[in-house]
Amino acid sequence: MNKWADYYTKKAKDQNWLARSVFKLQEIDKKTKLIRTAANVLDLGCYPGSWSQYSLKKVGKKGRVTGIDILEPDRLNSENFYFIKADVLKLDPEQLKQKIGIQDVVLSDMAPKTTGIVITDVARSLELAYKALEIALSILRSGGNFLCKVFEGSGFEQFKKEVSLSFKKTRLIRPVSTRKKSREVFVVGIYKKD
Ligand SMILES: C[S@@+](CC[C@H](N)C(=O)[O-])C[C@H]1O[C@@H](n2cnc3c(N)ncnc32)[C@H](O)[C@@H]1O
Repeated sequence: MNKWADYYTKKAKDQNWLARSVFKLQEIDKKTKLIRTAANVLDLGCYPGSWSQYSLKKVGKKGRVTGIDILEPDRLNSENFYFIKADVLKLDPEQLKQKIGIQDVVLSDMAPKTTGIVITDVARSLELAYKALEIALSILRSGGNFLCKVFEGSGFEQFKKEVSLSFKKTRLIRPVSTRKKSREVFVVGIYKKD
């Protein structure tokens, strides 16, 4: 493990978080006030669970977090956490809405298995990001927030534009805990338009 990974892995362990990726969400949430008390949060690509864990803390007893992943988080025990084991790419947004109801926040930290071939990795990341956006537009209440990880590359600007069409404000955030070499950035859509 390199120095960077070591530092955030240790910090996550010391603070009892399930993964170091929590620090990205924490920073973005501080900057954008994405997640509020009593909110319903949908966490796409939730395994091993640190974003859901953070969201559960933020929403409190009156809120609820639904996580979806191919892998089931095994260390996330909370009455307010509901898990769906599924491939998000195969989900029907309308059926999902019927199952879990309208949401206040949709998060996606989904990432493809990287191949090292930039064009392939960027295309796969965009496919996941567009699916997350499709779900967000179907399931978010008016005024709801969207956060989505995506790899920068060909097609990224168009994705950002698509987000900005449906949300009052769009921000692009590269958290300090993201590796310098990484292509990942986070697109935040704040306040979904009617
Ligand atoms: C970086 S991890 C998420 C980490 C998580 N946010 C956390 O803090 O614990 C990315 C996750 O996306 C999931 N993923 C990727 N493609 C997916 C898909 N098509 N459907 C469901 N989950 C997917 C992977 O299984 C993986 O667990």
